[in-house]
Amino acid sequence: MLLFRMFFRFQLLLQVFFFSFTGLSLTEEMPELARLGRQLFYDPSFGGSVDPKKATGFSCTTCHADFNESEYGDGLIRSGNSIVGVTRRQKSQWKEIQPNQLLRSAGGAGVCYQRFLQGIPAKKVNPIAIPEQKAEALMAYFDYVTSKAQVGEAEQAYYNPLSRTEAQAAADKILKLDGDADKGWKLYGKSCAGCHSGPKKRGIGTQLVRSRPPSNLEARLHKIASYTRQGGYLMPALGTGKLSDQDLANIIEFLRDITEAKK
Ligand code: HEC
Ligand code: HEC
Repeated sequence: MLLFRMFFRFQLLLQVFFFSFTGLSLTEEMPELARLGRQLFYDPSFGGSVDPKKATGFSCTTCHADFNESEYGDGLIRSGNSIVGVTRRQKSQWKEIQPNQLLRSAGGAGVCYQRFLQGIPAKKVNPIAIPEQKAEALMAYFDYVTSKAQVGEAEQAYYNPLSRTEAQAAADKILKLDGDADKGWKLYGKSCAGCHSGPKKRGIGTQLVRSRPPSNLEARLHKIASYTRQGGYLMPALGTGKLSDQDLANIIEFLRDITEAKK
């Protein structure tokens, strides 16, 4: 009996030792520069280099995952793609970036740094405004997560905001679909609530269900659908690759329900 207990204790010790050892080695594997990149990725002040008067409150994590979403998805629907695979891309999809600026702009992150973290208008964006060492740190982090994810091909879905007329036509179609408000509430939570909080309460984005009921509910819902496809000043568009027409119709039905419930 005693022998058995001793053996058991020994095993426990071994396990504790083993787990702490593997835990340690996991964190130790992340290079110093990549660790800095990780901190920047989660920080709306971007290590203090974002002008506090311009800060939107967004961090890179507001719109991008730092893991392979198809394999380890957390269910959230983000406007940007996962940064896994960025370091394997040959060119950026932002037209503001020349091919020779790809590294210096941290694989395209320089556009987001200015537009989304600081609200600088698209036309005035300087894609190489990220301080050089911070751009390198981001790339080191992208490289780290890419090698961990062991994906062969870089995944990349193209960002495709619709023009005003296209977005109107898309909204026409969406409003004709039968939506399911229960499904819509779940989808709202995964794709809108990160920025619009509760639909009736202010977040970073606007209050989608206003305290005063809209004079024309159909027009209001139509605007919500077209805005989602077109995007706005700070709000990136969410295309059919992120939310299908039916998904968006469900969200619209949910917003219709809670707007009508207010009356
Ligand atoms: C408000 C949302 C938003 C924020 C905040 C944001 N991004 Fe983006 N980002 C996008 C969208 C949308 C795209 C275009 C689709 C894509 O390639 O992911 C994009 C593209 C990118 C790309 C790929 C560019 C390309 O051409 O392939 C990188 C890299 C990137 N972002 C990194 C970052 C980093 C780093 C931060 C933080 C400094 C950040 N983003 C903040 C929305 C955002
Ligand atoms: C990354 C943050 C973000 C996400 C995610 C987001 N929004 Fe927005 N949204 C904003 C911001 C910020 C504004 C304010 C105007 C602007 O900058 O575009 C806005 C504005 C809007 C507007 C126009 C203002 C108004 O109230 O008429 C609509 C409509 C809208 N969002 C709908 C949605 C819907 C529906 C979703 C989910 C499918 C969504 N948004 C997801 C950030 C976001």
